[in-house]
Amino acid sequence: MKKRFLQVLRGEESDRVPLWMMRQAGRYLPEYREIRAGASGFLDLVYDPDLACEITLQPIRRFGMDAAILFSDILVVPDAMGCGVRFVDGEGPVLDPVRSRKDFEALRPFGESEKPERVYESVRRIRAALEAEGFHETALIGFSGAPWTLACYMIEGGGSRDFQKARSLAYRDPGAFLVLIDLLSDAVIAYLAGQARAGAEALQIFDSWAGVLAAEEFRRWVIAPTRRIVAALRAEFPDVPVIGFPKGAGPSYPLYVGETGVSAVSLDHNVSTRWAAEAVQTLCPVQGNLDPVCLLAGGVRLDESVGKILSDFSGKPFVFNLGHGIDKATPPEHVQRVVEYVQNWQN
Ligand code: CP3
Repeated sequence: MKKRFLQVLRGEESDRVPLWMMRQAGRYLPEYREIRAGASGFLDLVYDPDLACEITLQPIRRFGMDAAILFSDILVVPDAMGCGVRFVDGEGPVLDPVRSRKDFEALRPFGESEKPERVYESVRRIRAALEAEGFHETALIGFSGAPWTLACYMIEGGGSRDFQKARSLAYRDPGAFLVLIDLLSDAVIAYLAGQARAGAEALQIFDSWAGVLAAEEFRRWVIAPTRRIVAALRAEFPDVPVIGFPKGAGPSYPLYVGETGVSAVSLDHNVSTRWAAEAVQTLCPVQGNLDPVCLLAGGVRLDESVGKILSDFSGKPFVFNLGHGIDKATPPEHVQRVVEYVQNWQN
């Protein structure tokens, strides 16, 4: 069966540029909001395999992207480790913060929680549902947060503009910080392996806050743990591509690719397409990088931006995507427009 998303990640030729969009399932879709309104909380959707499967398929049925991404959240890992994750409307995620070596050592081992099992069940159901509904060319992506980004939320106890608490702990007590990063690296390996075993055909590691780190810290807290995760997954699942997303890495993107061994890399919208085609796409397949606000705005400029991304990246393996997740105010027609543009585009 021809899954052009997987062909491109393997570096093979495909009949056209494959496309999916980060946060393609979510609040910009009325059919998602309807299901969300009937649930008591966001995490109830995440831990309900039937609903998670249904939500994952919503954008595929409507737009026909080349890959589906498991409907879940990166904060499942800290939730399974006992951090009491909750989503407060209008405020984003809130967690019970952990801030010392003692706190880290008291975290519940990821493997003891039953919660990840529900996510693996969602993966199994999504694979079966894609087949049953005739989406034979649609690949399924599993994902996890990266240790650094998960540590950011766990130490801060929620979101933040610059994650000062996590960064300053990493400077003040790198030994304690490493305890947390190692625990998280083991959890991420187990979690992604569980998803691959359940049928995920590619895995993406979201390091949404990679860009707040100084260069040396980037090597230590982003590159080193990611390299360990990629090596462990590659040993067990040599045919499952691993996509890294070190958001905000800027000029460190090539270093990240070279040192971590990821199969492909997702580019944010701050990166120039011309630069990345030379400096990054010569190392591995790339994915990206439309500004989600350009998608929100629509109009002629949206077509132009999509066209430029396609022409700058079309020479080598490329997956069309955004530079970050779809904004919840995005008109679904704009998504439709981009899907048609990319799917009809000829080099
Ligand atoms: O891409 C997809 O369609 C798959 C689902 C997915 C979600 N979150 C669903 C979600 C994925 C891949 C994520 C990843 C995620 N979650 C990241 C990494 C990517 C990024 O955005 O940087 C991060 C940092 C999170 C943590 C998170 N989850 C935050 C900060 C928030 C609140 C902000 C917001 O947009 O409301 C969430 C909530 C969340 N995750 C929602 C969805 C659909 C909205 C919750 C709701 O419906 O109320």
